[in-house]
Amino acid sequence: MQQQNSDRGTLPVVFKEESSIPDNYKITEIHQREYLLNGELVPWNGPVTNIYSPVCIPTANGFEKKLLGSIPNTTPKESLEALDAAVAAYDNGLGEWPTMSVEGRIKCMQKFVYLMIQQRELVIKLLMWEIGKTLADATKEFDRTVDYINFTIDALKDLDRESSHFQQAEGTIAQIRRAPLGVVLSMGPFNYPLNEIFTTLIPALIMGNTILFKLPKYGVLCHYPLLNAFKEAFPKGTVNTLYGKGSEIISPIMESGKVNVLAFIGSSKVANGLKKLHPKVNRLRAILSLDAKNAAIVTKHADIDVAVNECILGALSFNGQRCTALKLIFVQREVAAVFTEKLAAAVSAMKPGLPWEAGVRITPLPEDNKPAYLKACIDDAVSKGAKVMNVNGGFQEGSFVFPAVVYPVNDQMRLYHEEQFGPVVPIVPFDSIDEPVAYQVNASHGMQVSIFSEDAKEVASLIDPFVNLVSRVNINCQAQRSPDVFPFTGRKDSAEGTLSVFDALRSFSIRSLVAAKLTESNKSLLNTIVRDHDSNFLSTDYIF
Ligand code: G3H
Repeated sequence: MQQQNSDRGTLPVVFKEESSIPDNYKITEIHQREYLLNGELVPWNGPVTNIYSPVCIPTANGFEKKLLGSIPNTTPKESLEALDAAVAAYDNGLGEWPTMSVEGRIKCMQKFVYLMIQQRELVIKLLMWEIGKTLADATKEFDRTVDYINFTIDALKDLDRESSHFQQAEGTIAQIRRAPLGVVLSMGPFNYPLNEIFTTLIPALIMGNTILFKLPKYGVLCHYPLLNAFKEAFPKGTVNTLYGKGSEIISPIMESGKVNVLAFIGSSKVANGLKKLHPKVNRLRAILSLDAKNAAIVTKHADIDVAVNECILGALSFNGQRCTALKLIFVQREVAAVFTEKLAAAVSAMKPGLPWEAGVRITPLPEDNKPAYLKACIDDAVSKGAKVMNVNGGFQEGSFVFPAVVYPVNDQMRLYHEEQFGPVVPIVPFDSIDEPVAYQVNASHGMQVSIFSEDAKEVASLIDPFVNLVSRVNINCQAQRSPDVFPFTGRKDSAEGTLSVFDALRSFSIRSLVAAKLTESNKSLLNTIVRDHDSNFLSTDYIF
């Protein structure tokens, strides 16, 4: 057994003097004293919450998390004002935004994305400091989000073109389009604080809904530079921000019954609690991305090097803090030793450090309680017979945890069942393929699986059961959400609704149609409306 948690062994020092941080990555504290409400950046003079980085600075008192700034600690009063603003802007579907032409909404979104790009450098820097994402991944998160917005605009143009004609059936003529649903409450997680909120907020917005968006606990300041872009690009009340403790500020909003769509990415427990607060469940639509503990299955027919590389990407990209991460690796007993040995060696070679350092792959963790939680999970496994297989595995210092490869894990251990959402890689040896299948059958979640095998018959025999147990079967590659044009969903407690660039437009809208009997007078009436461009809905205009 390798050392665990005790001394740093061969690991380089992670937390360094502040003066050694390169100038272009140094950060000036941001004390946000305003929030976006009803088209204004409203000044805030009330209590504030300090925001700290996972990056620690060595001091005389030990490691201290660097203060990044502070945010308004708004109360239920401001939440209900934000709700009122969104409700008024929607105005039962009669507001400026929900009745605006698709072309008009697209122009607003193009203005927003133009203004957003001006803030690229600062947002990327804040992502690194606030959640410890590496420079490469923070850059990818920003650029991927901009691409997502542009793809969404293109997808809406396509949708609109498909709807820009009349259909005829059984003596009835109709134009069928998609219309907004109302007020959307959008909440996202800390691991993709920009991207995941925007993958619900942007499609919801462009379909004509009005938005309340609750900033995540970590990754909140990175939204501050974008508030002005929302203010400038969209009519007043269309987008409103919420800051503070979810349990205090979100409950009254849900209890009001005025939220039409809950777009939530986080735990199923919180999502279920929020849904239950709504007094008219039939009026609430939910788009949810929730719990997951995606398994990898490495059979004796796998290319072990491919499996090792992909399992490392899947289990440890952004320190394992992805909903799509591989969180349990089943390996057929015949190859378990060689796989574990290669994986442990490769993990030990991963470079730890601060987010902006070249080649860094393991960084400090933002959640205060996470190091202690991960240690408890590892200790539980070790007390039941597992070992930490890699050099320095599980080493902790402040907010930093070096990844631990834990083997052999079994169903008596917490690591078999709990979504660790951090840098621990549990490996379960199996004899019969029925064992990983049974894991997925009995699991409360069903997002994705990764199958590693070069044997076509074996792969085929696993595809058929797993497509009905999860929502994406990855062959010889890690689990992941991208490309964003592919559907992203899950079964059981993993998701409700589907998100992809195209699916999200459907999820945040409802079909609505204008129909008439096919008489000469109705034909002339409809033709006149279309010719004179008197309706934004009833139109045969083609958006280029
Ligand atoms: O945390 C969940 C993310 O949506 C995962 O996205 O698989 O592209 O990292 P990703």
